[in-house]
Amino acid sequence: MLSRLVLQTSGARFLKTGFSANDGYKNSPLSTSCRQTRAHSESHGCYAPYMARAQVISTFCQPVGRTVWDSAAWVTYYESNAKNLGVIPWERGGELSTEERASIAASVQDFQLGESSEGLHLQRCAKEWAEKTGDRDYPEAIRLFTKEEQRHASNLADFLKLNGIGLISKSWTDALFRRVRRMAGLELSIRVLLCAEIVAQVYYDALRDATNSSVLRAICDQILKDEAEHVRFQCERLAIFARKHGAFARLLRNCFQYSLMTAVLPIVWVRHRRAYLAGGYHARRFAKETWLAFRRGMAIADPSSYE
Ligand SMILES: [Fe+2]
Ligand SMILES: [Fe+2]
Repeated sequence: MLSRLVLQTSGARFLKTGFSANDGYKNSPLSTSCRQTRAHSESHGCYAPYMARAQVISTFCQPVGRTVWDSAAWVTYYESNAKNLGVIPWERGGELSTEERASIAASVQDFQLGESSEGLHLQRCAKEWAEKTGDRDYPEAIRLFTKEEQRHASNLADFLKLNGIGLISKSWTDALFRRVRRMAGLELSIRVLLCAEIVAQVYYDALRDATNSSVLRAICDQILKDEAEHVRFQCERLAIFARKHGAFARLLRNCFQYSLMTAVLPIVWVRHRRAYLAGGYHARRFAKETWLAFRRGMAIADPSSYE
């Protein structure tokens, strides 16, 4: 999100669908704190713990007159992000203690599988959308987004192998998630996907704190940085869709999104509580932080934020 802030103030291209193109961040006296936070993170060669950054953002960086990136700007972002990845110290080898392994191994296997989707259905939907609307860069933006998810899967797979932990090829939550998305059109597919992105924002923060493995911590830092932008990417798209819907249709969709997130939370907690607990997230903190991340996402998905 912070990288977006910096990119936004440096003059990216904006969508021409009625959204305001004024730069609400640039003139905000508070935007300096945000840039300083990013500068601090970068000067230390790492990203500071995500939730601390998220707190800064949510407290100080509520944008006024925000803008939505067009697909070409997202393509530029994803290409640039792929060239600026954090260093993962693979040479440190498998550092997981027996205790850490017991807490997180099964959970990481599950998330690794979830990240590994090829996104073929989403890419098909994106092509149809491009043909229908003339948004020709959107399929490429979706392709690059999927590639990032696959990088996450690949990094987690390498980490598991490094620690002598096998990969899994099936889990009922992953199967359910993929089946629902396959049945859906573009918007519904993004709404389902968004729940996973929101969960990831908090999960990887917990996972980072659940281990002393420098490899896993570096992987989590990178994923957290990526996921913050994934949420924005998907939520901005929902805001674009919402512009085309009437008030009642928007209300229905929001109800669906809130219901879906409410249903997802207990499933995630039951399946991954050991990892969350090891990272200092008891049930209440897990629910609170995840819900906060969800509310931030819903604010981005609200088209009135851009008017
Ligand atoms: Fe991911
Ligand atoms: Fe993601």
